[in-house]
Amino acid sequence: MTEQRPVTDTAARPVPTLPDAQTVTAVQHYTDKLFSFRVTRPASLRFRSGEFVMIGLMGDPHPETGKQKPLLRAYSIASPAWDDELEFYSIKVENGPLTSKLQHIQPGDQIILRPKPVGTLVHDALLPGKRLYMFATGTGFAPFASLLREPETYERFEEVIVTHTCRDVAELTYGANLIADLKQDEMMIELLGQEALDKIRYYPTTTREKSDKMGRITTLIENGDLFTDLGVPPLNAQDDRAMVCGSLAFNKDIAALMEAAGLHEGANSEPGEFVIEKAFVG
Ligand SMILES: Cc1cc2nc3c(=O)[nH]c(=O)nc-3n(C[C@H](O)[C@H](O)[C@H](O)COP(=O)(O)OP(=O)(O)OC[C@H]3O[C@@H](n4cnc5c(N)ncnc54)[C@H](O)[C@@H]3O)c2cc1C
Ligand SMILES: NC(=O)c1ccc[n+]([C@@H]2O[C@H](COP(=O)([O-])OP(=O)(O)OC[C@H]3O[C@@H](n4cnc5c(N)ncnc54)[C@H](OP(=O)(O)O)[C@@H]3O)[C@@H](O)[C@H]2O)c1
Repeated sequence: MTEQRPVTDTAARPVPTLPDAQTVTAVQHYTDKLFSFRVTRPASLRFRSGEFVMIGLMGDPHPETGKQKPLLRAYSIASPAWDDELEFYSIKVENGPLTSKLQHIQPGDQIILRPKPVGTLVHDALLPGKRLYMFATGTGFAPFASLLREPETYERFEEVIVTHTCRDVAELTYGANLIADLKQDEMMIELLGQEALDKIRYYPTTTREKSDKMGRITTLIENGDLFTDLGVPPLNAQDDRAMVCGSLAFNKDIAALMEAAGLHEGANSEPGEFVIEKAFVG
């Protein structure tokens, strides 16, 4: 006879109080793979626009002990440093340990937020320049959603060029809406100023679905289309600064193009002409 384990009534157990819990205030879905959400912000949390934090949910209870451990992942904070709430822009990975659950959150639910923001996509890691490029693929747009709402971005640069490359048009929605709203929202116009908002040049491209501009941004840099389309000179270390966020392969390829143009990678400890962060591992 097999040993009988005591039947545990999980419903009767007290709901574990999440450590570092924050409450979800809004959720928006864009595609079957992408969504954004907002959560309350701890009064003590300070961060620089462009940084990331660890967020997550409690994992499933251990089948024998019933104990739950936090399931945490790195996430760029998509909201600016001045915002009362925190915003995140997320992938939904099929069978992904965190996002297979996180994609079901609703307003009123709680998530875990470890209050230790870090990162290199920050103004402190870039030397002054004339033109700032933000190069994003996929959810790599998230840190730029923060930096585009940050007044310092426009104080430091005369022109802000945002490129976002995705496979399909629908995957551009979060970024496209954010930029369109930014330019119309009275509060944002008052905060940033019309002159600042006029500095934004948005350059979305797709690689699989047909759209107005197709191609990997790396190809469009190499063949010069990006510069011709925008009427700006080719990349140069004197005027241009860049922030890059995408897959490892993307980051590697674009870093090579930056270096070929004479730009050097910066860090918090030693600012440079471009900075890079992974949008995900793998
Ligand atoms: C510095 C940093 C910042 C990050 N910021 C964000 C963010 O703002 N938004 C976000 O959605 N994710 C972000 N990620 C990825 C995030 O940490 C998780 O990997 C993601 O939430 C999936 O978690 P998971 O447990 O479901 O799957 P995981 O086990 O973590 O990932 C499974 C696989 O899914 C793929 N994958 C994971 N994340 C992504 C992604 N974002 N886009 C495309 N494919 C992906 C990879 O192939 C990965 O190997 C960031 C990662 C790092 C290192
Ligand atoms: N997004 C989807 O619809 C989809 C569907 C099925 C599976 N997935 C899986 O989800 C994960 C992430 O997909 P994702 O689309 O979010 O991110 P991704 O694969 O990193 O692609 C995002 C965008 O970046 C481009 N890109 C990728 N590598 C590049 C490089 N080295 N240089 C320049 N541009 C580059 C892609 O172009 P290319 O199209 O030319 O690669 C695409 O337009 C992958 O593991 C993928 O297999 C995604």
